[in-house]
Amino acid sequence: MKTNVSLKPYNSFGFDAVAKYFIEINDIDELRQLVTTPEFKKERFLVLSGGNNVLFQEEVFDGLVVYINTKGVEILGENENDVIVRAQAGEDWPEFVRFCVGKGWHGVENLAHIPGKVGAAPVQNIGAYGMELKDSFLQCEAIELATGNKRVFTKEECAFGYRESIFKSELKGQYVITSVDFMLKKDAPLHLEYGNIKAYLEQNGIVSPTLQQLHDAICDIRDAKLPDVKQIGSAGSFFKNPVIDRAQFNALQEDYPDMPHYDEPDGKVKVPAGWLIEHSGPSALRLLRQTQEPKAQGPQNAETVSWKGWRNEHVGVFEKQALVLVHYGGGKGQDIVDLAQRIQNSVEAKFGIKISPEVNFV
Ligand code: EPU
Repeated sequence: MKTNVSLKPYNSFGFDAVAKYFIEINDIDELRQLVTTPEFKKERFLVLSGGNNVLFQEEVFDGLVVYINTKGVEILGENENDVIVRAQAGEDWPEFVRFCVGKGWHGVENLAHIPGKVGAAPVQNIGAYGMELKDSFLQCEAIELATGNKRVFTKEECAFGYRESIFKSELKGQYVITSVDFMLKKDAPLHLEYGNIKAYLEQNGIVSPTLQQLHDAICDIRDAKLPDVKQIGSAGSFFKNPVIDRAQFNALQEDYPDMPHYDEPDGKVKVPAGWLIEHSGPSALRLLRQTQEPKAQGPQNAETVSWKGWRNEHVGVFEKQALVLVHYGGGKGQDIVDLAQRIQNSVEAKFGIKISPEVNFV
């Protein structure tokens, strides 16, 4: 166990928080032993895998950070149609997807290039381009922190929802996912319906894409829209897309006929938070103050103002995707907390819609 370790390399926002204690786990038995020691029970603790969806609000994490770095991918069973694959929690997610696509296995290809580790993927049921982790998820194994006991969670037990699972709600902080089993198909139709996938393929002269071509297209599309976390700190989408009542949507649509929206099975309507953020901005009062801040940039007049591309010295709203908050360096987690609050307030003031973060605040 190490003391006073910088968490900068362990969170994709790149905030320089410090962990009082830090331990890297390369073997699950080490973890099972650790959680049953009296010292562990005394400390506040945080399990980190990729650190791609956390925001450290404090400069010091006054407890123990457990970094899961277990490796291994194995085939548990296969027939002519399906293959069951187990990946250990510390495996890199994009590499795992690339591996499956390389083998010709379908089920995770639209989730290509999402930064993170396998163990974190079920926690928020990662999703992109019309696919979610739950679609190919079979079961996962986890360790109960209170006892060190192993437990298998079936898909039903995980209670997956949109960026949700039991590990984020009822059982938050109680289990560590140690491996995930996927049920993948050796052949299946490709999901090309979402967003600009078709347009991208057409532009590149691809008429009927292979699994590999779809994977590569998604990597390119993401690269064009989302920041490279190696260069600019971010946690991908910062907010969830809100779901509103149809009556509220109908009223809004009269004022904003171009508002993109997706119908939900229960009759409600999902609205992209990125659009809401792009079409709202800092208040005129705030703008007056910002012009006096030394390095504040961004639109200077209340009529044309948008959060998209807004920045101050340390943090901002990504210029190509307003759902992504970014850290340009030298800032603190609190800077993002403050910016997020201002964005939430202005979206609510303009549209009457509350948006909530999908990122975990620590
Ligand atoms: N939009 C804007 N302005 C923006 C951003 C988006 O008007 O700045 C509009 C777009 O024009 C489009 C709609 O909003 O009409 C949806 O945009 P996009 O397809 O980029 O997707 P999103 O809803 O903003 C979600 C996920 C992403 C995922 C993409 C693609 C959430 C919270 N985010 O974003 O996931 O990659 O769909 O499937 O559901 C992540 O979770 O970290 C993440 C990046």
